[in-house]
Amino acid sequence: MTKAARSVASPRVVSIEDFRPIAQRRIPQSVFDYLDGGAEGEVTLRENCRVFEDITFRPRHAVAVPACALCTRVLGFDLALPFLLAPVGYSRLMHPGGEVAAARAAGAAGTAYILSTISGHRLEDVKSGSSGPVFYQLYLMGGRGAAEAVIERARVAGFSALVVTIDTPVSGIRERDYRNGMKELISGSPLQKIQFLPQVLSRPGWLTAFLRDGGLPSLPNVVIPGKGPMPLVDINAALAESAVTWADLRWIRELWRGPIVVKGVLTGDDGRRAVDEGAAAISVSNHGGRQLDCVPSSLRALPEVVSAVNGQVEILMDGGIRRGTDIVKAICLGARAVLCGRAYAYGLAAAGEAGVTRAIEILRTDLERSLRLLGCSSVAALDRSYVNVPKSWESN
Ligand SMILES: Cc1cc2nc3c(=O)[nH]c(=O)nc-3n(C[C@H](O)[C@H](O)[C@H](O)COP(=O)(O)O)c2cc1C
Repeated sequence: MTKAARSVASPRVVSIEDFRPIAQRRIPQSVFDYLDGGAEGEVTLRENCRVFEDITFRPRHAVAVPACALCTRVLGFDLALPFLLAPVGYSRLMHPGGEVAAARAAGAAGTAYILSTISGHRLEDVKSGSSGPVFYQLYLMGGRGAAEAVIERARVAGFSALVVTIDTPVSGIRERDYRNGMKELISGSPLQKIQFLPQVLSRPGWLTAFLRDGGLPSLPNVVIPGKGPMPLVDINAALAESAVTWADLRWIRELWRGPIVVKGVLTGDDGRRAVDEGAAAISVSNHGGRQLDCVPSSLRALPEVVSAVNGQVEILMDGGIRRGTDIVKAICLGARAVLCGRAYAYGLAAAGEAGVTRAIEILRTDLERSLRLLGCSSVAALDRSYVNVPKSWESN
């Protein structure tokens, strides 16, 4: 076992939550809070996790479950696990391995990885590093010219699907990032950086690895025609100029012949609209509580979208998944599979690829144990009969 793998083995890391303090000690406060935090009062961020407590199980006891089938099919791809790794921007700041390490761990576990537009590694390297399917998450940063170029690169590199995130017309206000000087650290003058430097200097291990990795990368997958890769300056300004509309989605459809996932649906109306616009799947998502605060938790929004879409496309969900039981509950409420964001990103920040592998392993063993305890032999057999849903949810 490598040193990194030992650092996140049991009993140090038994649950996903156990990664957090290890990550917090390894990376600067500004990077940790970027990963850990949410928008405004973080109401939705907290609710995303808490809401799973509202759903309780209805196990079938005295049932022999000799083997559990955890596999599922998403967009025609056979996945060994009913969860995918969600797009997480700036992963290369959390660990130099970044997106390549996460994609490799996902592929080794038999599942898919979704690469964020805000990534530090070239999409070709991420794809070739993984033995599993890789999807590309598209923001229109850098304008349509940059999008056209990246869509073509993703096609040539063998990406399997595009994930279009529709909940980011501007970035949500993540107050922790302002307090920590995230913007100044990334793009400020030396003078502006000074007051925020102690938190970086107090993590010499991270700092050495970061400098060896070349320091701040540009965005190698956002290449503006005639200008080159977009520098990692003010992402917020770039996002504010690149809101995705339904009209853009039609334009993207013309360019990308493969499946499109619309990520960031929270209402039945938007779910139906996404189906009408040709989405092959939807992710019910509030961006991990990082965009508009006080929207419903993803799990609470899921039944409305499932019933509005009525089986026309596959439904994924993301937000608050920290345990295998969370995944089981989301599937019982109609999700085909879920996306995990922080659950693996804490692992990445704590120990690089070994941390992501350990996070996936925790969720996998959780899932298998939970199915056995429920008396259910496969993910495919999960449905509402295995859960109690609060009366107040019952209109959908
Ligand atoms: C640090 C961080 C960066 C993220 N960056 C992106 C991104 O670039 N694009 C995107 O569509 N979603 C992004 N997300 C949202 C995730 O894809 C996903 O919706 C969310 O993390 C799910 O919630 P969870 O973290 O509770 O699992 C990011 C989330 C985090 C935590």
